Parts: sequence; structure tokens; C-alpha cells
Amino acid sequence: MKVATHQLRCTECGTRIAGSAVNSIFRCPACNGLYDVIYPWSSIPNGDTPASDSKLPNPSALRWLWQERRTSTMPIDQSGVWRFRDLLPIVDNPENVVTLREGNTPLYDLPRCAKAAGIDWLLAKHQGMNPTGSFKDTGMTAALSVAAERKFEWVACASTGNTSAAMAAYAARAGLRSIVFIPEGKIAWGKLSQSMDYGALTIQLKTDFDGCVRILTDLVTRFPIYLLNSVNPYRLEGQKTPAFELLEQLEWQVPEHVIVPGGNLANGSALAKGFTEMHHLGLIPRIPRISIIQAEGANPLYRSLQESGGQELIPVKANTRATAIRIGNPASWRKALRALRTTGGWCEQASEQEIALAKAQIGAEGVGCEPASAVTLAGLKKLVAQGKITREERVVLILTGHTLKDSDFTINYHRNELFTEAENSQIDAAQQAQHAALRKPPVVLEADSDIVLRELEAHMRLTQLA
Ligand code: F0G
Repeated sequence: MKVATHQLRCTECGTRIAGSAVNSIFRCPACNGLYDVIYPWSSIPNGDTPASDSKLPNPSALRWLWQERRTSTMPIDQSGVWRFRDLLPIVDNPENVVTLREGNTPLYDLPRCAKAAGIDWLLAKHQGMNPTGSFKDTGMTAALSVAAERKFEWVACASTGNTSAAMAAYAARAGLRSIVFIPEGKIAWGKLSQSMDYGALTIQLKTDFDGCVRILTDLVTRFPIYLLNSVNPYRLEGQKTPAFELLEQLEWQVPEHVIVPGGNLANGSALAKGFTEMHHLGLIPRIPRISIIQAEGANPLYRSLQESGGQELIPVKANTRATAIRIGNPASWRKALRALRTTGGWCEQASEQEIALAKAQIGAEGVGCEPASAVTLAGLKKLVAQGKITREERVVLILTGHTLKDSDFTINYHRNELFTEAENSQIDAAQQAQHAALRKPPVVLEADSDIVLRELEAHMRLTQLA
């Protein structure tokens, strides 16, 4: 792996710079645009041609090599990110790679969720099965390895919880010091506990996520801290690799549709980059549509598309129980828009009630996920109802976080304590019935087997009736 093989290219004005020349906020000094990592063989979306001396890696050789590495005992080969390192040559010395054996996440079929959505074939790629329980690990191994190679002592991020958990873990592995900025009282406990467990300096700021980003952006210009938010383009190099792994798991059969949740809006574009590169290299014959789903209470991209066709971002004051995506002013909205446009996908939104129902349906298939991940199923139902996805199309949901990240949400849902009365009254009768069938509140009984038997019999009568 050679650093010299990659450059950073501004996604707005096209300026290219060496990776080592980037500023501390990862924005183009000329136009404030975000960067993409590009390689001599990269396909460049705006029609530029790759450098004439580019030698495209051979697709059959890559497939063979990636498969071979699965049987290796080397950590770098066991990682589901670095196994694909030929397509992310961003660190010079493989010894600098910081890995927790991320990636290698399962692909589950969801037949009952498929039925609920009105399609025949639905899979979930569960990125919550990563070492710290979210998709952020795939990006963190990449960007933190770059930080370690560039000899940074401090790393930092603003986070709704998952990025901070991942960053704290990888920084601890590498022996770097990490600072986490999180919005006070607005992240799930599981995530907060992780950053403490992994030894980060955890700072809860009396603001929201967008306010945390503002403070951190100022700090990194005044102190030598390596910024690990998703504006850091090396994060996205790691986050593109689930696209490779997904296609490998599908024996290179391309699904019609991939659906992701949208928060700070980087992940959809990372996956689009992965699919685009595979297409460019001849690994796949076409690119799936990528759709992005936001929570209705944190829907700046959805609103901007509705109100201005995506001309300008309309920031919102974000509010949703899906705290991972409680973001009103997403940094990577232009990248997300590009991903929607180049792949032909859509942006949808899901209400709090729709998110809770979808989460319970995914849970009831024995898979489970955190609330933010469940927007994918809620959005799928809408895209099917609108005729944008047809019954026979093959769809993959990207489940971004593990169900244990936010057990409070799950417990409140099953105890029927999640919604206010006003919110409950917005749920129509058909959906009320679905919720009632899914809710499994815990039952407290005396420790007496006759009492337990009577409860069991009553429960069986009820479920037979349903
Ligand atoms: N799903 C989960 C579980 C997340 O934690 C996030 C983002 C997203 C989806 C959205 O991804 O930002 O790339 O659009 N969480 C960030 C964090 C913001 O700080 O953990 P995105």
C-alpha cells in the first residue's frame, strides 16, 4: 500500500491535492467543498478521465485474492475492510493498520418484513454486527490508521454516539488519545457507556449534534487534533467496503436497490463510491439504486428536495427518538445528493410511529437493530406503496446499528410507553393492530408454577385468537 497512489479531489471545484496536504477541517480552502479519495484507476463522476498511466486492477484476480485472504490468520486479512485493501491503498505501511477485525457482517433474509413491505425478496446487511456494534467501525479502522501513520497523538469527533464509540475503541487499540463531543442527554446510554469504557475523554456539550460539530471544527484549527467525523474522506474509504462484501456474499449478483438511513449523510455516498468503483473495474455490470431515508423530525435533505429540488440545504431543528440520526444540518448533504442522482435512488422520510413499527418488525424476525436503522424498512414500505420499487425487485437494507445500542427505546416501545397520547392518536387502526401483535411487555408474576401455568394458558388463548 502506497500513499503516493492516492490523492484528494474536491467534490465541488475538482481541485486535487496530495493526501498529506489536506487542512485540519478536511475542506477545500478555495470553495469549502468536501474531498473524495481518488486513485489512478478511479472513475471520476463528472466525466473527467482517469490518468492515462492508470492500470486498472484485474477483476478476476481481485475476486480470487479477496476470497483467499478469508483463510489467512493475519489480522489485516481477517478484517472485512482491509481484505479489500487493493481498493483502498491509503496507508503506506500495513503495520500502521489499526483493526478490530471489523466488517465480515452477516446478510440475513427478512421474509416477514418483505411481506409487510409488499415485495418478494428482502435482505438485511447487518452492520450492527461490527466490533463496537455499528457500521462506523468500517470507516474508523481506515481513518484511524491514517491518523496513526501520520503520528497524531489526539483524535476527536462530534457524535450522536456511534462514531464516538467506534473512535474511542480504535484510538485505544492504537494507543492514541481521543476526545468525544456529544450532545448532552440526547444519545443512547449504550453508546455513552462505550466511549467511557474505551477510555475517551467524553465531553457532553449543552447543545445538539450540529452545535458539537461547530465547536469541534473551531478546536481542530487551534490544536493538533485529527478530526474523525465523516467529513474525513478516509472514513468513507472504509465505509465503501460493505458494498464489496455485499456483492461477494451475493455471488456478484447485483441487487436492484440498497436502502440506508440518512443522518450526517456520508454513508450513502460511501456505498455509492464502492459500487461505482466496482462497476468501473468491471467487477459488476451495473450499480444498484441507493435510497436514503431520514426521520421526519430530522429531514433536511428530504425537505430540500421537496422544496428546492436539492438546490440548497434547508437546515432543520432536529428532533427524533432515532437519536443516531438526530441531525439538522448534515455536512455531507451534497455528496448524498450526488449518490442519489448517480444511482437513481430516492430520499424518503419516516415518522416516529413508522420507525417504531419497522424496528419491532425487524426485531420479531430475530435480527433486531437500533431505531435509526429501522427507517430503512419504514422507507421501503413507502417506496413500494408509491410504485418506485416493484414486488420482484431485490432490495437490501443496510442495518447500521445493533439493537443493544438503545435498549431504552425497545423497552419503552414494548411497555407501550414510547409515544405521547397525541402521537398514539395519529396511528390508524390497522397499524394499531400491528403494534399490538408485536408488543411483548414483560410480565411480573409470583414465583408459583400454578400462577405461571395460568398465565401461559391465557397467553396461548390470546395468541390463538390473534
Ligand atoms: N445509522 C446509525 C446507527 C448512525 O449512528 C448514523 C450516524 C447513521 C445511521 C447515519 O449515517 O451520518 O452517514 O448519514 N451516526 C453518526 C454518529 C452521526 O455520530 O454516530 P450518516
